[in-house]
Amino acid sequence: MKLALAPMEGLVDVHMRTLLTRHRAFDYCVTEFLRITNQLLPERVFTRLCPEALHNWQTPSGTPVHLQLLGGEPQPMAENACRGVELGAPVIDVNFGCPSKFVCNSVGGSILLKDPENLYRVLSVMRQAMPSHIPLTAKMRLGFEDKSLAIENAQAVEAAGASMLCIHARTKVEGYKPPAHWEWIAKVKEQVTIPIMANGEIWTIKDYETCRQVSGCDDIMLGRGAVATPDLALQIKHHQAGSDYQADSWKEQLMSLEWMLETTVQSGNVKFAADRMKQWLAFFKMQHRQAVPFFESVKRIKDHQQLSEHIHAEIKKQG
Ligand SMILES: Cc1cc2nc3c(=O)[nH]c(=O)nc-3n(C[C@H](O)[C@H](O)[C@H](O)COP(=O)(O)O)c2cc1C
Repeated sequence: MKLALAPMEGLVDVHMRTLLTRHRAFDYCVTEFLRITNQLLPERVFTRLCPEALHNWQTPSGTPVHLQLLGGEPQPMAENACRGVELGAPVIDVNFGCPSKFVCNSVGGSILLKDPENLYRVLSVMRQAMPSHIPLTAKMRLGFEDKSLAIENAQAVEAAGASMLCIHARTKVEGYKPPAHWEWIAKVKEQVTIPIMANGEIWTIKDYETCRQVSGCDDIMLGRGAVATPDLALQIKHHQAGSDYQADSWKEQLMSLEWMLETTVQSGNVKFAADRMKQWLAFFKMQHRQAVPFFESVKRIKDHQQLSEHIHAEIKKQG
């Protein structure tokens, strides 16, 4: 019964990974994707994407971080995977879900789902190049335009030697529109033997349980739901254990926001700090009614110090 934190470019960076994994409720998390074109990337690019690489590829709570690559050229993908492994990455994951199209003449992400041979070519070359003890995993959507190749794509992933496949239960065309088609994960799962992890539209414990039931998967990856409810994974763990747990209060969420703002500013990302926090607040808004008026009151603030003062005042108001 694994629980993983989804890779989310521009949203789940090193600081968010630190925060969301602090309860040790996730079994692992995944970096944002590293775009691979035709070059072997220097070490600094890996460590910039994943500063945890300098700490044994673990977040401060000890949660492992997997490296995700995005690209469609087998050789550079294999070379960069090997560099990731040399730098200590415990698992290499390949992204076949991203909606991006062409990057410097190279193709990557969900467009590769149009032909299962694409997935096979990329993964099999990577698998052969990588040391056999390092797992190679993949993450895909159910298809590009439709779901007709979902099973063939998963079988290609398996045939190429990947040891696990995470399925985001929507096509590229479906974007992020609810619902997620968990029943399709069950269909795919029946036709492969490697472990399948289910992903998509899990916002609550109830969604988690329904997804497990419908998809038939024990292993679940949480995406936006974990950002909207930072203790969702912990709630799930307590639910599984049958133990009591008091979900984070609005005050605790504000304190997380405050920590995140300070950490983002301290790391030098001053210019975008306020925007990043407002982006996060917009997720809080989806799940927590107190976040709605607070978001309205700060949504035009651009200066991080001013935003910090507002967050602080709102914390004090909570008593
Ligand atoms: C802002 C954003 C960025 C994302 N970046 C990535 C990424 O870098 N790699 C990836 O495999 N999926 C990425 N995804 C997809 C998520 O990992 C996940 O599959 C998707 O959000 C569905 O799960 P959810 O409904 O629980 O959010 C991204 C999603 C969002 C919303």
